[in-house]
Amino acid sequence: MKIITVSYRLPLSIKTQNRKTTITQSAGGLATAILSYSEKSEADLTWVGVADFEENTWEKNKDSFPKTFDVEPVFLDKKLNKNFYNIFSNSVLWALFHYFPSFVEYNDEAFEAYVAANAIVAQKINEIYEPGDIVWIHDYHFLGLAKLVREYHPDAKIGFFLHIPFPNFEIFRILPNKAKRYILEGILGANLAGFHTWDNAIHFTECVEKILGLPQRSFLFSQDSHHTKVGSFPISIDFDKFYDAYNRDNVVALRDEINGLYQDKKIIFSVDRLDYTKGINNRLYAFERFLEKYPEWKEKVVFLLVIVPSREEIGKYGERKKIIELNVGRINGAMGNYKWTPVVYQYQAVDFDRLIALYTSAHVALISPVRDGMNLVAKEYVASRQDKRGVLILSSMAGAAKELQEAITINPFDTELTGDKIALALNMSEEEQERRMERMQKYLKKHDVFKWATHFLSETEAAHKQDTNAV
Ligand code: UDP
Ligand code: G6P
Repeated sequence: MKIITVSYRLPLSIKTQNRKTTITQSAGGLATAILSYSEKSEADLTWVGVADFEENTWEKNKDSFPKTFDVEPVFLDKKLNKNFYNIFSNSVLWALFHYFPSFVEYNDEAFEAYVAANAIVAQKINEIYEPGDIVWIHDYHFLGLAKLVREYHPDAKIGFFLHIPFPNFEIFRILPNKAKRYILEGILGANLAGFHTWDNAIHFTECVEKILGLPQRSFLFSQDSHHTKVGSFPISIDFDKFYDAYNRDNVVALRDEINGLYQDKKIIFSVDRLDYTKGINNRLYAFERFLEKYPEWKEKVVFLLVIVPSREEIGKYGERKKIIELNVGRINGAMGNYKWTPVVYQYQAVDFDRLIALYTSAHVALISPVRDGMNLVAKEYVASRQDKRGVLILSSMAGAAKELQEAITINPFDTELTGDKIALALNMSEEEQERRMERMQKYLKKHDVFKWATHFLSETEAAHKQDTNAV
């Protein structure tokens, strides 16, 4: 029995520049989580995803991929992929599901491409599927897939997990009827539909009840002999990997370098993909307000702002980048001087060791999404702090805020109060930092990504047993 894990993005990306080929980890929480699981799991894992490289590049480089899983890339036609990924997935679903209805750019051609791409991937799964396999479908790119796989294999064990929020009925209903039905019926093809929080699970069940008219009993939908269980499964991280990285030689050297550069200053840090959901501008406004209101911190604090390039070819992302860069320039121009740059900004990814060095030298992690399914960065920051120092400021709009109860929570739209919370965090005593870190670490150690994955997969199997046509 194998696990067929399906996501749009493969965990690793092959890029060729100036005839040099590099293989790097794909950005984002989905890749981090499932890759971590694959590294330590004994399961026989096959990863199906859409290739962001050509077929001949794959043939030349496939042996350099990790041996912890098999890879089955799907090669999509460029125009189809643009309509499927750029438009329907990212300019309709991503925007709507993160409560940005005014950003939605719906058109029928893009929806048809989404339907077609889901069908192509279903066919790929059909080619490799063997009875007894678990099909584990991830995220908003494949909302129609579970139903399609079930049409091929009525007895299949199928789990679907959504890595982003599921919106409430008033937002979801904005989609045209055919798209609404396609999505809900698609997800109901699974034995288990998992979300990060109960709020999201409830939104989904309400949409099914109101739109499809299907009643639920204790988060269970029944259609003839097929049942779909709905539940909350907060995703997590490989706690030990982050905790144990503190003393790696390279991490220590990089941390010393950072601390040397900013030795007389406290460091505020954030890292996110370029995304309007991450509240990066709200964060900059709050930092600016903080400096205005607490001028005693001028020259004594630096904000290290790391933004990982993402979806640059999509209009709203490019626009956002420009506004962020204007804000960084404006704040540095207005507040900084020849001795001090308040916001040190980088628009580049960082590797693991650098990420840990940044997490572990930051006095404050300032994480302010305006809407986020989970936010693994918040969990990673806490897990890396073997020294029990540092303060997490976290938006209450992130799924992670429900679990990380000892974070200082903020409403990212409340600039004034966020500024005050920055001051509070910078002044927090070491005892209080330690108390909060210890409690959050204890929670994360217990609720790590392995627990998440094994729980999700065993619940998929349990839900599958309820189908009367199960073998
Ligand atoms: N990350 C990354 N590249 C980087 C820096 C960080 O891929 O250069 C990782 C980070 O470690 C985390 C993930 O990206 O695991 C971000 O996940 P999160 O859930 O916070 O947000 P998402 O990007 O999935 O919306
Ligand atoms: C989020 C999504 C993932 C996605 C990632 C990176 O984490 O939930 O499905 O892979 O962002 O975005 P990208 O568009 O580059 O795949």
